[in-house]
Parts: sequence; C-alpha cells; structure tokens
Amino acid sequence: MSEAATLRDLLVRYLRQRAELGDRELFLGGRSAGQLLERLQAAAVAGLSQATRTGRAAAAEVEGQPSSVEAEPADEFEALRAEVLGCTRCRLADNRTTVVFGEGDATADLLAVGEAPGYEEDRSGRPFVGPAGQLLDKMLGAIGFRRDEVFICNVLKCRPPRNRDPVADEVASCRPYLRRQVELIQPKAVCAFGRFAAQTLLDSELSLNRLRGAVHEFMGVPVVVTYHPAALLRNTQWKRPAWEDLQALRRVYDEAGGREPGGERG
Ligand code: URA
Repeated sequence: MSEAATLRDLLVRYLRQRAELGDRELFLGGRSAGQLLERLQAAAVAGLSQATRTGRAAAAEVEGQPSSVEAEPADEFEALRAEVLGCTRCRLADNRTTVVFGEGDATADLLAVGEAPGYEEDRSGRPFVGPAGQLLDKMLGAIGFRRDEVFICNVLKCRPPRNRDPVADEVASCRPYLRRQVELIQPKAVCAFGRFAAQTLLDSELSLNRLRGAVHEFMGVPVVVTYHPAALLRNTQWKRPAWEDLQALRRVYDEAGGREPGGERG
C-alpha cells in the first residue's frame, strides 16, 4: 500500500473510532503533521481489535452462526486504552507527561472514580499513587477490597497544570472515555470520590454534602458519593462521615450482586 493510502486508511479508521465513541467533532487545531501521524498510529493499534472483531463476525457468518459475534471485552478494553493513551482532544495533552487511563481489574464489580491525575500520577501514568492514593487504598481496604480488585480511574485522564480545577471543555472531551470504561467494565457499583467526580458523574451542581447520603445512578449503575481522600487528609473530622459513606457503598455493592472481595476488612 502506498504511503498516502496507508495514511488514508489510518484516518478512516480513526474517524470511525471517534464516531463509535460518540464524537461529532474533531479538534486538530495546533497539531503538527508529525503529531497527527503519531495520533493516527496510536489509533491504528486500537483499530486492531476492531479488525479482529470484524474478521470473527465474518467467519461466524460463513459457518452459519449469528453474525453478532462480539469482540472479546478484553480486546475492546485494550483498544480503548490505546485510544486514550494517544488522546490529543484537549489542551491538557500539551503539558502532560503521561495519560492516566486507570488501573485495576478491567472486570471489576467496583469502579472508583476520582478527579484528575496529580503530579505523581502524571509522572507514573498510574492513578492515585501519591498520599491521597495511599489513603484511597485504606478506604477501599476498610470495606474489604484490595486495590487490585477495583478499577480506579479519574474523570480526566490528564493532569491539569498545577492541579487547577478541570474546565468544562476538558470534561466534555474526556467524558466519552469514562462512559466507555463503564460500558466495558460493567461495574455493579461506582464510588465517586470528591465533589468534582460526583458532580461530573451525576451531571449535577449540588454540593458534595448534598450528594452524599443517597444512592444515585450513572448509566444504570448505582453511585455512592464520598469525600476525596486528599480532602480527608486535610480534614480529619470528615473521617467518620466518610466511613459511613463507605459502609453504604459496600451495602449497595452487595445488594447489586458484586462478587465477594478478597481483602480483609480493615
Ligand atoms: N487525585 C485524584 O483525583 N486522582 C488521582 O489519580 C490522584 C489524586
């Protein structure tokens, strides 16, 4: 295939993928040809699982089986990861060191959602690894979960400069990724850590305290809201109410049929 044809093929695959994620616009402003090529190559890696799926469906049809053979969820998850790791949808791509896709069990029954990567997360590419992350691990442990049994991610996958608050268009750019993560992971319960995660997931402007203490819903999955661990580190008087939120989370998780976690309750 000529270079031009390869590029055209990559671009077509990329646009299809964006459309699958629900995008109706494409932001290319300010990208050099080299950056665009890099982006398309990342999308091509992601597109591999799409090709596998198409191939499987065709094979099934030939054998007289229904053509709706699904891609392995793990393939789709890896495709999404590749997609997100190459993201240049918003200005945060300009200053990040790494994209923080999230980590943990891609089939977890519990999804923990924070705000955005901080300094250490941006450096390491892993969510919640700084002091707030250590507290997050303890919070999960308190209700019986080991960190690796949960999927942990953020609303934003890139660090805002100097940890400033995310802005609306950055959230809008990242939201399809979070939705896709929920679709693929299919958690039984979601915990929103902090005001920002709660307001984004619940599409609400209510304060954290107004959102705590109730069971909400995101894409059909029950959502419990609690304090962000970084806020708890600064305000130890919120430990007790946070503990109550976590117990409520565990109840909701159990009622939704979440698998018994293997950690010992702390
Ligand atoms: N705070 C967050 O909200 N997420 C992280 O990953 C780290 C700190």
